[in-house]
Amino acid sequence: MNSQTLYHYSLYYWVKQLHQSPLDVSNSLCWEGVEKGSQTLDNERERVEAIVGEYGASRDSLISVLQDIQSALHYLPEHALRTVASQLSLPLIQVYGVATFFKAFSLKPRGEHIVNVCLGTACHVRGAPAVLDEVKRRLGIEPGETTEDMKFTLETVNCLGACALGPIVVIDGNYHGQMLLGKVKKVLREIERRTQRDETHE
Ligand code: FES
Repeated sequence: MNSQTLYHYSLYYWVKQLHQSPLDVSNSLCWEGVEKGSQTLDNERERVEAIVGEYGASRDSLISVLQDIQSALHYLPEHALRTVASQLSLPLIQVYGVATFFKAFSLKPRGEHIVNVCLGTACHVRGAPAVLDEVKRRLGIEPGETTEDMKFTLETVNCLGACALGPIVVIDGNYHGQMLLGKVKKVLREIERRTQRDETHE
């Protein structure tokens, strides 16, 4: 199944869900039907509402709103899409379409830090598979997975367009070229240290 077909299946699925859903996305019922009582959900809801509130009800701000939610929660939960649709008076299917069109958005929970290991040909011949093994070993996860503490998500890409620097690992958008196994440890340790420092200061 190619990606176009997959996309249309996804849209079809969502339209079907919408017709079966007790929610009317054209009005302001944002949180009904969503499981409540979870502190995490409450926190997410507050953050989403604050973000949407900052932009007012302008439909033109759809992408900016989604970007901010993605940046705050590291993914776009269904309840956030419903809130955005409701507050911006847009059909949910349209919000979903934008959320699935851009690779920068994720509908699946992702970690605080995104680790991307390039497995393109140039990086591959320079040792990317060993680098990936080392990252997997250190994080204890496979590509596509997120650590239990929601700190790291591991992904792979095929080429980042900077082959001369291979093997490359990109963490949170920062390129780390000519990765050696020892450098993997150093870079990940540095990020963990920085995260701990930030948490202490919060
Ligand atoms: S193959 Fe890794 S950057 Fe091109």
